[in-house]
Amino acid sequence: MSAPILPCPADSLDPAVIRQAGTTLRDGGLVAIPTETVYGLGGNALDPDAIALIFAAKERPSTDPLIVHVDGLAMAADVVAGPFPVPATILAEAFWPGPLTLVLPRRASVPATVSSGLPHVGVRCPSHRTALGIITAAGVPIAAPSANRFGRISPTQASHVASELGDRIDLIVDSGPCAAGIESTVVSFDGDTAVVLRHGAIPLESIARHVVARSVDTAAEEALASPGHDERHYSPGTPTTTVIAAFDPLRAPAGNVLYLGYEGEAPPLPANWKFASLGSRTDLATVAHNLYDALRRADAEAPTRIIAELTGVPGLGRAIDDRLTRAGSSRVARSVADL
Ligand code: TXA
Ligand code: MG
Repeated sequence: MSAPILPCPADSLDPAVIRQAGTTLRDGGLVAIPTETVYGLGGNALDPDAIALIFAAKERPSTDPLIVHVDGLAMAADVVAGPFPVPATILAEAFWPGPLTLVLPRRASVPATVSSGLPHVGVRCPSHRTALGIITAAGVPIAAPSANRFGRISPTQASHVASELGDRIDLIVDSGPCAAGIESTVVSFDGDTAVVLRHGAIPLESIARHVVARSVDTAAEEALASPGHDERHYSPGTPTTTVIAAFDPLRAPAGNVLYLGYEGEAPPLPANWKFASLGSRTDLATVAHNLYDALRRADAEAPTRIIAELTGVPGLGRAIDDRLTRAGSSRVARSVADL
């Protein structure tokens, strides 16, 4: 049986839906919740049984830590051990509520399984009114990974959640498409320096306006600091190859290939290749908003291969390129010889 999908427009919250979602969560159930980034698969972060259900529903390895969602700084203090370090306070003031996850020391009352046994926990206060309302109604912090099966494409609409997890959870709350369309930026701290572990909806450049900031510099450092961020992730079922912005596909073999590129920039293609647009390279917010739906649609067309072109630009382009690269199992082709 598939979980009921309860409509709850973000601009006119339905109090009955918010209440039902909050109660279900507090009682140990699983509820798919809209956030400004992607839909999350919520469970009570303080309930080890609910945490186990999240990992089971997603078929997620226990080594991949969950982000805990709070409705403000007071609830964050129930999750994080000790006071926030200064740069974390500065970033929370600048970007919360919003798509920023802070990795901070975990309080002993938060089950270790939430953060895969790590001493630190990822915490974020979302800005989506439905998400905030549900967390407040639950009265407990809510652990919520993206509401997709492990390794697959993140959901930005309630229908995506229903097809991925509908038969494994209690409730889906539907507030329409997520605005950002790409996950939160995950930041840890190295002394006073903010270290971006996962590029996301808030660009590194925006964070660097408030504190000293860098991204993880090596794959080894990333694996240590951010265990769940695998080389293959956000992946369509169709074999997917990522290509650099300057890739020239023309001499590739003919075939049932779908090329995902940018509006007004369709390159000359081999016979039978089709072009689909991710949006304009000059409007990356819209590219991010549409990205996962575009990957799902590409998959549904059942080509033998998807080729996805990187933006090749900084800012939000870093997050878009990270997701496109992982959709292609982290292999990037520079020329037809690499295909
Ligand atoms: O926008 C988002 O962040 C969405 C929505 C639902 O809030 N959530 C999300 O969760 O993307 P998920 O589970 O798909 O990604 C969580 C990732 C982990 O794979 C890991 O890379 C990082 O966040 N993370 C979480 N807790 C961490 C920790 N304690 N230390 C290091 N990295 C952590
Ligand atoms: Mg995810």
